[in-house]
Amino acid sequence: MKALILSGGHGTRLRPLTYSQQKQLIPVANKPVLFYAIEDVIEVGIREIGIIVGPNANMVREAVLREEWDAEIEFIHQGEPRGLAHAILVARDFLGDEDFVMYLGDNILREGIVGHKEHFEKGNYDASILLQEVPNPSQFGVVELSEDGKTIKRLVEKPKNPPSNLALVGIYFFKPVIHEAVRHIKPSWRNELEITDAIQWLIDHGYRVGWTKVTGWWKDTGKPEDLLDANRLILDDIETDIRIHTNARIHGRVVIGEGSEIDESTVIKGPVVIGRNVRIRNSYIGPYTSIGDNVVIENTEIEDSIILQDSEIRNAGRIVESLIGRGVKIINGTSHPLGRKLVVGDNSRIIL
Ligand code: TTP
Repeated sequence: MKALILSGGHGTRLRPLTYSQQKQLIPVANKPVLFYAIEDVIEVGIREIGIIVGPNANMVREAVLREEWDAEIEFIHQGEPRGLAHAILVARDFLGDEDFVMYLGDNILREGIVGHKEHFEKGNYDASILLQEVPNPSQFGVVELSEDGKTIKRLVEKPKNPPSNLALVGIYFFKPVIHEAVRHIKPSWRNELEITDAIQWLIDHGYRVGWTKVTGWWKDTGKPEDLLDANRLILDDIETDIRIHTNARIHGRVVIGEGSEIDESTVIKGPVVIGRNVRIRNSYIGPYTSIGDNVVIENTEIEDSIILQDSEIRNAGRIVESLIGRGVKIINGTSHPLGRKLVVGDNSRIIL
């Protein structure tokens, strides 16, 4: 089996971060979201991985190749992001005539895909999809099951009257017949080749589409609040690993990377992940916070937030539920005229 991981797309809902960065590279608990997908497919023994790249292809390639992976990785250029089924079309040569798992590179699945792959293979399905019960099905692709609840009758995108509360998770298993399906479908109203239409084509032509339910948590990190949520969920599982000497007051599970300096007047309450060469002075770092490499924090309280690398936060009061990009400066100055002095990128959100 091969894997096709999608790391293209514009990520408009994560602007302004995605003006300068591919969304799948944004870290959760200091690890790019994309790496969770790569680890999941390697865990099930897949050794040939194709990564679909789009607008920031080089950025993705460099970030992935900086690490060592127990797999061969090929990068496949999609050009414009014209839909999930379009990604399969452009990966045709890479995929050949083998079964594959398609994994959206901005999805994180706590339980991994071992059980789901087994179900696909044992059931000899032509495709198998992952479903999760959600409280707000009209915001997802949803399935309608047969009366006995065993087979999938229909897939509907963001339905006004959802036929079930079972949403499609961004992980799909396919036999090569999917290539025929993606060649037959037409672009949708949003001018994308939809994977739901390709799967519906399989159902309509008598192919067997199986499904499994996700039992642990699943997160699609398409929006800022989803990234913060994913950060909380991942941090819930971390183990303490402190690589420096510090006299800071540390409670709970905390990870601190090499070269970081944290003074004795700082309090850290885990779960918290702090990267390398971070400097923290006279501050409080509260639960569910991830701080990237080379960040400086002084006289500030931060809780339930993601701070990316190279940012500087001084005398900033209390920061909560925030997603702060790379190289950002948040400083409470004392020079006149007093007041808030902002240099803020397009589509930023500041809640004062
Ligand atoms: P989406 O989150 O649906 O699309 P997007 O990345 O364009 O985000 P937004 O709606 O905020 O603009 O895409 C799901 C995943 O698939 C995501 O990881 C990006 C990836 N993708 C591709 O690689 N190629 C594509 O053509 C599309 C549509 C998405």
